[in-house]
Amino acid sequence: MTPHDAPSADGIWHHCHLLPDADPERAIRDGALVVVDGRIAWLGPLASLPESFATLPRHDAGGLWITPGLVDCHTHLVYGGQRADEFAMRLAGASYEEIARAGGGIVSTVRATREADEATLFAQAAPRLEALLAEGVTAIEIKSGYGLSLDAERKQLRVARRLGETCRVAVHTTFLGAHALPPEYAGRADDYIDLVCGTMLPALAEEKLVDAVDAFCEGIGFSPEQTARVFDAAARHGLPVKLHAEQLSNLGGAALAARHGALSADHLEHLDEAGVAAMAEAGTVAVLLPGAYYFLRDTHLPPLALLRQYGVPVAISTDHNPGTSPTTSLLLMMNMACTLFRMTVPEVLAGVTTHAARALGAAQRHGTLAVGRAADFALWRVQSPAELAYWFGRNPCAGVVRQGRVIR
Ligand code: NIG
Ligand code: FE
Repeated sequence: MTPHDAPSADGIWHHCHLLPDADPERAIRDGALVVVDGRIAWLGPLASLPESFATLPRHDAGGLWITPGLVDCHTHLVYGGQRADEFAMRLAGASYEEIARAGGGIVSTVRATREADEATLFAQAAPRLEALLAEGVTAIEIKSGYGLSLDAERKQLRVARRLGETCRVAVHTTFLGAHALPPEYAGRADDYIDLVCGTMLPALAEEKLVDAVDAFCEGIGFSPEQTARVFDAAARHGLPVKLHAEQLSNLGGAALAARHGALSADHLEHLDEAGVAAMAEAGTVAVLLPGAYYFLRDTHLPPLALLRQYGVPVAISTDHNPGTSPTTSLLLMMNMACTLFRMTVPEVLAGVTTHAARALGAAQRHGTLAVGRAADFALWRVQSPAELAYWFGRNPCAGVVRQGRVIR
């Protein structure tokens, strides 16, 4: 079913409680949400519903909670194959970095992605997207980075765009050409960065396949100098940047990203105070990825106390990818962010709504229920929004409305 065939959500949603912007203090019990022409026309306590809407059709929400559609702001959803064998190698004692340096890791997914055609990549990614949608996700970021050649990166980004067109979720694409060094460039990382900046990005930006630019700044990825070149190229194309930073070590990537006005710096287990301060100054969102932390059995916690102290907005995401976070549950990530990172329930609610939307550079479109916005929301069979973070391995999502259509 495409959004166009789905039933209209126009009318008054009543017999519900509303969480407009993730702040429990602003929750509205016994609320009403009015949708007109697919947009939110009013929201507030049912008792204050303006007379002018009284004749609209009514949707009895059955006492459910309504939140903004959730936002998954960091995913690598489109790729070929899977890496269960590598998981087994890690269980037998090999480290993620050892596997990567031995030609496995990201590069093994690059091989599988290059071999797959667009139809295959689409067919494999669509059910993953559906699983996210079933948990109330209405906006998602999808990165390239498993092609590492112009044609193969284009293929991934075209599939991401097609998923956005047909699968009922808003898709923001990110070009991650600087994710790993492709084998044909072994020993020539600077030449590969030339290709990324001089050929791949210009072509893909011209084809309107790129909404943002990312890189992997790490010992097994690219240096801060190489990352800065990618950021400069993004700026020449007027594209915002973000960065995989401080995941396995501290190269100062977050501060570098902040200096380039990055939307977000992501992972951040090894972030230091200077990086936190730089992010606060630049308004860069910290995207924490508890799935990768868990799956790599990391023990180095991101510096949450410092992020709070400096007022850095924190988002939470699945980081869905075959190597470090093969999960399709954003709700599970909320739970893990609480249990593993000691985040609070209001923090993780903001982390998958308002702050995640900001990490996409789309705070005006996603993550908040507000008058004038497209009606993107999720309905939850819970007694309080805290239950979104409380259950794990259980999905209380009872319905999803996207662009004013009831798609689930
Ligand atoms: O976000 N850290 C780099 N990139 C991905 C993992 C990619 C992979 O192992 O395939 C991440 O964790
Ligand atoms: Fe990632």
